[in-house]
Amino acid sequence: MVETSQKAAVLGWPIQHSRSPLIHNYWLKTYGIVGSYEKIAVDPKNFETFIRSMPDLGFIGANLTIPHKEAIFALADEVDHVASTIGAANTIWWDKGKLHATNTDVTGFMTNLKRSAPDWDKHNGCVAVIGAGGAARGIVYGLLQAGVEEVRIFNRTRERGIELSHRFDVRVKVEDWDNRNQRLADCHTLVNTTSLGMEGNPPLDIDLTQLGQDAVVVDIVYSPLKTPLLAQARKMDLVTVDGLGMLLHQAAPGFTKWFGRRPGITADLRALVVSDLTS
Ligand SMILES: NC(=O)c1ccc[n+]([C@@H]2O[C@H](COP(=O)([O-])OP(=O)(O)OC[C@H]3O[C@@H](n4cnc5c(N)ncnc54)[C@H](OP(=O)(O)O)[C@@H]3O)[C@@H](O)[C@H]2O)c1
Repeated sequence: MVETSQKAAVLGWPIQHSRSPLIHNYWLKTYGIVGSYEKIAVDPKNFETFIRSMPDLGFIGANLTIPHKEAIFALADEVDHVASTIGAANTIWWDKGKLHATNTDVTGFMTNLKRSAPDWDKHNGCVAVIGAGGAARGIVYGLLQAGVEEVRIFNRTRERGIELSHRFDVRVKVEDWDNRNQRLADCHTLVNTTSLGMEGNPPLDIDLTQLGQDAVVVDIVYSPLKTPLLAQARKMDLVTVDGLGMLLHQAAPGFTKWFGRRPGITADLRALVVSDLTS
């Protein structure tokens, strides 16, 4: 029997730095699935034409990255509750001629947090979220769904933090960026969702001493893997969670949807991506 090759891709503009093909092609090879996963630079001007032509080109679905995560709303037939609450979709698939869209950053972030810091929910309480961009929206949603009592947003541009808080309930409070050191007292978790600490960017300037002694510090930046924020937290013996786990876990639901197999997040896969990040 000849198996039909299934095609998926990541669409962005630019797209050259995406690690998604490395991850999905590793899974395709590991599970002996006949298929492919490409990275395709799609100019926003051509986005609609490309999306509409996907079935004819043999694509069963795709991941979306900047700047397409919001543009897909106008084209999808079904946007699920997670994506519509967050206002961004990163995973699409075709089913019986209909285009579906969801956001897997939420599950990627929460699954990684629970796996990397298994005791995390025991010291729930307040979570400090640094940043209020696209990634922060998914993370705040995931934290609230998990039952967090308070999310404190610190964003350089306060208005953007306020905008984010309006999507959610009263548990989300917006704080002044300049108060970020003092207002960490009584928080047990801190998540950096800004691009500060990423290669080529300045580090996040923050003093973690007010955090609880058993606090968990998460950085969603994964290049470098050990950001200055995580280095500071490790020096203080806090539990740390890096950004690569989220990247791997957010990829898994799309793979399952397109290729019909739930993939493993293994040490070998992680090592493969780490070596690519450090090469
Ligand atoms: N690990 C993963 O799977 C994963 C997933 C998604 C994203 N990420 C990473 O998360 C980061 C943010 O992504 P995003 O999509 O949320 O980007 P975004 O929508 O552009 O948001 C960027 C955020 O960073 C803040 N920021 C940027 N430069 C700053 C500076 N100099 N000082 C203070 N704040 C600054 C922005 O604050 P303002 O509002 O004031 O501009 C905003 O809150 C990126 O590094 C991305 O690679 C990782």
